[in-house]
Amino acid sequence: MREDHQEAVARVDGARLWQRHAAMAQIGAIPGNGVDRAAFSAEDIRARRLLVSWAQARNFPVESDAIGNLFVRRPGTDPGALPVLSGSHMDSQPRGGRFDGIYGVLAALEALEAIDAAGLKTRRSIELVAWSNEEGGRFQPCTMGSAVYTGARSVDDFIDVRDNAGIALRDALAATLAALPEARPRPFNMPAAAYIEAHIEQGPLLEKQAKTIGIVTGIQGLRWFNVEVFGKTDHAGTTPLGLRKDALRASVAIIAALHEFTHDPQDITRFTVGRMLVTPNSPNSVASHVLFSVDVRHPDTATIVRLGEAVEPLARRAGAPCDVKVTPTLHDDPCIFDAAVVGTIERAANDLAVPAMRLPSGASHDAMYMARVCPTGMIFVPCEKGVSHNEAENASPEDLAAGARVLTAALLELANR
Ligand code: GLV
Ligand code: MN
Ligand code: MN
Repeated sequence: MREDHQEAVARVDGARLWQRHAAMAQIGAIPGNGVDRAAFSAEDIRARRLLVSWAQARNFPVESDAIGNLFVRRPGTDPGALPVLSGSHMDSQPRGGRFDGIYGVLAALEALEAIDAAGLKTRRSIELVAWSNEEGGRFQPCTMGSAVYTGARSVDDFIDVRDNAGIALRDALAATLAALPEARPRPFNMPAAAYIEAHIEQGPLLEKQAKTIGIVTGIQGLRWFNVEVFGKTDHAGTTPLGLRKDALRASVAIIAALHEFTHDPQDITRFTVGRMLVTPNSPNSVASHVLFSVDVRHPDTATIVRLGEAVEPLARRAGAPCDVKVTPTLHDDPCIFDAAVVGTIERAANDLAVPAMRLPSGASHDAMYMARVCPTGMIFVPCEKGVSHNEAENASPEDLAAGARVLTAALLELANR
C-alpha cells in the first residue's frame, strides 16, 4: 500500500466511529437496545440532519436527489474523473438494530474524514451516499432509493405507496426533502467509477470462522409480492362455516401451501411472510380482506424465477373460495460483484493484515442496484451470533474500525486509479 494511503488509514478513528453509532442509536431508540427509524419518518429526518451536521463541520458539500438519497462529497483533483461512491442506509426495521445500514454510512464518513485529516489529495472525488428507504419496512418495496437512482425504477412507481397508517410516500418524502434545505439538488444516475458498501454480515459465518472482514462476492436473488385475499365479513357466532368467505382462513391456507412448495431440504431457499393487514381486524367478525407480503430468495437465477412464477397460481388455488390478487413489488436477480473491486477489497484486507474471507450475501443491499451501473463490491464485518433485524443486533468497536480501515484503503486505491 502507498505510504500516503497508509497515513490516511492510520487516521481512522475507531472511538469516533463508535460514538457516532451511539449518537445515531439514540434517534429512534427502542427498548432492548434497538432502533426504530422508519424511512422518511421524523427519526429518519433527525438522522439525516445529524449526518449533514458532521459533513458540514468538514466543509464537505451535501446533495440530495428527488427520492432523498443524500450525498456527501470530498472533491478530487480531477474534475473530469468519475467519483468513487461508498455508503449504505440510515433507515431501520421497526424492531431493528444499531448497525444495519448506519454502519456503512458512518464507515464511509470515517473514510472521508481520515483521508481529509491526513491531507491527502485524491484524483477522483469520494462521495458518501445514504440511500433512502433501503429496508422497506414502512413503504414497500426495499432498496427503493438505489432502484430509483440507478434508473431501474422511477419515483412515480412509488409515490402513491402508503404505509400501514395510510400516509402516502409522496407526503413523507416531501417533508424529508424540505427538512434538508442545505442539500443541493442532484440528478439521478450520475456516472460513478465504482461503489463499495460496508455492512454488518447479518449472518454467522465470519464469527464462526474467526474472520474480521468478509469480501462479498455477490447477493442472492429476491422477489417480493403483495397477496390480497378478498372475502366477506360476517358474524363470528352465527354464520355457518360453510357459508363463509373467510379471507384470513384462506390466507393461512395460502401461506401453508407456499411454505410447502418452497420447502428446500438443503435449506438454501428463503421464504418469509412478515407483514399482514387484516380487515376489519375484529375478533368476532370474519375477515373480509387480508393483505400479506411474500419474500422469497435464492442464489440461482432460474430457481428464483421459477419460485416467483409459482406464487400467483398457487395462491389462487389454495385461497378458494376467496378471490386472490397477487402483485409483484420487487424482482431482483442474483448479482455477482465486479472482480476488480472484489480484488481491491481483498488486497486492502491483506495489506492491513486483517483476517478475511470471501462470502456471498444472503441479505439484499443497495449494492445490488449499483452493481448494474458501475463496478461494485461490499465489505462485511461480523455481528454477534449473526443476529440482525432484531434489537439485539451487536458488533464490536474493533471490528467496525477494522472494516472502516479496509474501506478507506480500498476507496483510496480506486480514487487514485
Ligand atoms: C434487507 O434488509 C433485506 O431484506 O435483505
Ligand atoms: Mn442493511
Ligand atoms: Mn436490513
